[in-house]
Amino acid sequence: MKILGIESTCDETAAAVIDGEQILSNAIASQIDVHKQFGGVFPEIAAREHLKAILPAIKLALKEAGCIKVGLSELYVESNLSSGVAKSFESSFPKLQQPPIDAIAIANRPGLIGGLMIGAMTARTLAETLNIPLVAVDHVYAHIYGAEPTKMRFPLLALVVSGGHTTIYLLKSHTEHQILGETRDDAVGEAFDKAAKILGLPYPGGPSIAKAASAEVASLGKSLLPMPKLDNPYEFSFSGLKTAFLRRAQELAGGDFRLPSSEIPERLTSEQKSQLANVFQESAVQILLAALQKAAQEFRPEQIIIAGGVSANQRLRERAAELFGDKLLLPEKSLSTDNAVMIARAALYMGLPPTSPRKLTVQPN
Ligand code: KG4
Ligand code: ZN
Repeated sequence: MKILGIESTCDETAAAVIDGEQILSNAIASQIDVHKQFGGVFPEIAAREHLKAILPAIKLALKEAGCIKVGLSELYVESNLSSGVAKSFESSFPKLQQPPIDAIAIANRPGLIGGLMIGAMTARTLAETLNIPLVAVDHVYAHIYGAEPTKMRFPLLALVVSGGHTTIYLLKSHTEHQILGETRDDAVGEAFDKAAKILGLPYPGGPSIAKAASAEVASLGKSLLPMPKLDNPYEFSFSGLKTAFLRRAQELAGGDFRLPSSEIPERLTSEQKSQLANVFQESAVQILLAALQKAAQEFRPEQIIIAGGVSANQRLRERAAELFGDKLLLPEKSLSTDNAVMIARAALYMGLPPTSPRKLTVQPN
């Protein structure tokens, strides 16, 4: 069963084809370079970039997966780009012996409204014209399927750490899960992005902080930032961490706590930035793993997954491996950040019922 996954919820336009357990293609058009100049994702620009990239991404994924012959893919994409050839598209498609794929999986929630609508409209149109099932998937939950589904053992604890979410799930099976806790304010990825901004490091902040924190001088200056105290041990809060980090940076930049964050980078040496990045990374990792460890003690899972963009963090991976040993299952780093393989896999394994292409809606939050 060949499934085309489509992902356009934030700043990556991705399309992938899986055939059961096999990944046949994984196309990703990243917008990082476009948003870098703004220090974060600019929603309207993100929507325009999705519009440009979505058909080429799907075309590439289908081509690489060998689902369509080159001639047909050219015709198919051209016909969507230009109304002048739409007629030839219409007259050619019904001649297909069978559709090039068996189903489409689309991430229709949560995310930025522009990207969601572009992805959903494309998926709806394809499902309708090819007359194949369309399955709507939750992007955050789908991150769990960045990890290899055939290796999953239940009950399973999953921590999803992304730019917009920090959530612990308990899965009894592929089809049954509950949320144990989420963040009350900022997501951990967002906190990484904000901390990087304070240090004048480029977007996305996670990889920038990780790189600065791995410098040799980084381990000097060890004392961690305060941990949040919450009633629910599986909930998170990162807004306090961000403020404590700002104060620590102001302290090192000369001790003036009224110093605007825009003036901090120029007053710090690269050594100090590395030390601060290290303190931030260690503190964030500690907060995440403390909650996960508590959940592991209570629910005694067979396996623990950490997924989502922040799970690409090497320090988090190392500390988690020390704590959870062979219970830990991680996505390959390339499947930690946004991709469409996880969307297609979630649709396949979760056994979600298809949605009518004419009724599919998007849910930004
Ligand atoms: O899951 P994702 O690709 O997109 C969303 O669904 O948000 O996650 C993006 C987040 C960003 O905040 C980015 O800074 C963070 O993941 N990230 C990292 C690393 N790579 C990406 N955070 C820490 N260390 C990394 N190596
Ligand atoms: Zn994501």
